[in-house]
Amino acid sequence: MREVTTAKSAGFCFGVRRAVDMVYAEAKKDNRVFTLGPIIHNEQVVKDLEKKGVKVIDSVNDISEKENTTIIIRSHGVPQNVINALKEKKVNIVDATCPFVSKIHKIVKQASEDGKTVVIVGSDNHPEVEGIKGWCVSKPIVIESASEAEKLDNFGGKKLCIVSQTTFNYKKFKDIVDILSKKSYDIDVMNTICNATEERQTEAGTIARQSDAMLVIGGKHSSNTQKLYEICSKECPNTYFIQTLDDLDLKQFQSFRSVGITAGASTPNNIIKEVQANVRHEQ
Ligand code: F3S
Repeated sequence: MREVTTAKSAGFCFGVRRAVDMVYAEAKKDNRVFTLGPIIHNEQVVKDLEKKGVKVIDSVNDISEKENTTIIIRSHGVPQNVINALKEKKVNIVDATCPFVSKIHKIVKQASEDGKTVVIVGSDNHPEVEGIKGWCVSKPIVIESASEAEKLDNFGGKKLCIVSQTTFNYKKFKDIVDILSKKSYDIDVMNTICNATEERQTEAGTIARQSDAMLVIGGKHSSNTQKLYEICSKECPNTYFIQTLDDLDLKQFQSFRSVGITAGASTPNNIIKEVQANVRHEQ
């Protein structure tokens, strides 16, 4: 039998797995179940949930009936006014916001209530950042790059509280903080970057280095999967990018004694398991 090593950090991170599990658990109950936006960027999962009666709505205004209705908030979180609007509708709310994101909501709420200016380092149009903005009681500043930070005026005596989007790059965050430190005397820096992505990348590189061939599973358009592919290709020349088991040409693997497997953040476990079983047993 071939030696197959699957990365422990392959696929869903803790927060996404938790959210997806919560939706499946709600789907088993009698209520009508809706998710506010797709629970994850994976069509198969969304379709599978649809078969189980879970529908996607884009806004609170799309809720027509409140009786026996459950609305699930995804791991990205939502602004506080969305929670309030849901409460007013008197629907059953299941909050699957990742606890790491909820922590940022608490930080920015408190800081802005204390009169500090909140700076969110991240992409302004990303749903997670939209959610974070919506917990600030005063207008926050969102910046994504060092050049944007350079352009900001000096803050003088104003107190700043800097947080970051959970998936932001640490090096870029540090550069931005360095620039802002020169523009204000009073700064609280909260590094709220989640290490799930970095851990997945580091582990993928380590396994690729030790394997004859490496398989990276994920969506064609998923940037985090492409990044994994890039990292693995540098460590192992026989690295393959597949979306599902159907893309796997097992003949290519006949001469490989050790194969590593990793997967992007939106790849469900059953796909990883299926690939793993097939690679292991094909001789
Ligand atoms: Fe995932 Fe939560 Fe981190 S959703 S990437 S574990 S912040």
